[in-house]
Amino acid sequence: MKLTPTSQGLQGTLQIPADKSISHRSIMFGALAEGTTTIKNFLRGEDCLATLQAFKKLGVPITDDGETITVTGVGFNGLQAYDTPIDIGNSGTTIRLMMGILAGQPFITTLFGDDSLAKRPMNRVMLPLNQMGAKLTGEKNSEFPPITIVGSKNLKPLTYHLPVASAQVKSAIIFAALQASGTSTIIEKEATRNHTEEMIKQFGGQIETASDGKTITVKGPQTFTGQEVIVPGDISSAAFFLVAGAIIPNSQLLLTNVGINPSRTGIIDVMKQMTADLTLDHLDQQNQAATMTIKTSQLKATTISGEIIPRLIDELPIIALLATQATGKTIIKDAEELKVKETNRIDATAAELRKMGADITPTDDGLVIQGPTPLHGAVVDSRGDHRIGMMLAVASLIAKGETQLLRPEAVAVSYPSFFEDIQTLMGKGSEDK
Ligand code: S3P
Repeated sequence: MKLTPTSQGLQGTLQIPADKSISHRSIMFGALAEGTTTIKNFLRGEDCLATLQAFKKLGVPITDDGETITVTGVGFNGLQAYDTPIDIGNSGTTIRLMMGILAGQPFITTLFGDDSLAKRPMNRVMLPLNQMGAKLTGEKNSEFPPITIVGSKNLKPLTYHLPVASAQVKSAIIFAALQASGTSTIIEKEATRNHTEEMIKQFGGQIETASDGKTITVKGPQTFTGQEVIVPGDISSAAFFLVAGAIIPNSQLLLTNVGINPSRTGIIDVMKQMTADLTLDHLDQQNQAATMTIKTSQLKATTISGEIIPRLIDELPIIALLATQATGKTIIKDAEELKVKETNRIDATAAELRKMGADITPTDDGLVIQGPTPLHGAVVDSRGDHRIGMMLAVASLIAKGETQLLRPEAVAVSYPSFFEDIQTLMGKGSEDK
């Protein structure tokens, strides 16, 4: 795909697509609840559609009328075995959370995905689930997908210190703990996104998080009741336009209905720290959403480390681009988890942005970026990673000359209308969009 810079900036209002983490979980909780769940503003991106299809295969009736997704819950005891391996594409969230759900089911399931998923570490989930009494194995006894899950109806509760800060691992253990008899305690290294915990409460279940935000207690077995879920916009998708608005001259963007769960808003804290011209309005505390206005900004470098990292882990590639336009040295550390995302995002971010002239150096656990540097067009590659693809597309809008983005289709994992939305904000889209 050929991309050229914009001289007029980006302007207008954008409704941010639905939250990926919440969309996945709405299908899962809907399936495991008793009664009907309706989901409005579900993200129809490839990852969440993989979750939807997987639960259909496990015998859960799910319909989509184009507006509302309706899930007829089957309860924890109603899932059915599927006799061939289930393809869940590129989605780490789908495979890891389903491992926790299937650990408590009295049948065998195999889950597999694409080449990227086949390289992602699964021991972090398999080890605690095996301790609880399920039997999970990877391809040829490795920790990599395809993963075969021999579930057990007699899971034991577990006390577990998470070795990595990961909401996917935490959530997988929670899903298994909900099916075990007794109380499980999960202790996090750093607090991570809490959508699973929030949804347990929304669906009528119980879970406690200690005041440190890192110790979670959950008792099994539990039952859930179907709910109406309205998914807010994804701050991780908004991030691309927050940064685009800040770094592209003559820009002003209004982003509506953006999720502001505090476990996800690290990018807001960092952008304010970097003196971005960013404001939040219309805070809707009940739906945890807000409207955000971003204008072209004069930016200062910063250091990003420690407890904030899980609150912005998916935003680090686009924050790295932001830092290329800030004055001074930005240091990102304690982010080694970036190496095991859809790509090694430390390497991918540094290598692709260097092609465009950025002064960016990969480290063992992050990136060091010296700014500001003018960027120039180049042939760059999403490497099949949606967030790397979108970051590079935003970079192309300030780069001198033409950029060629390889594998742009990766964006459909979380943001199918990404390129159309850019066109619209550049004033080139259809009038009625
Ligand atoms: C997610 C958790 C994070 C995040 C991913 C979605 C979730 O992964 O990167 O995009 O929905 O729980 P980790 O748990 O591996 O950090």
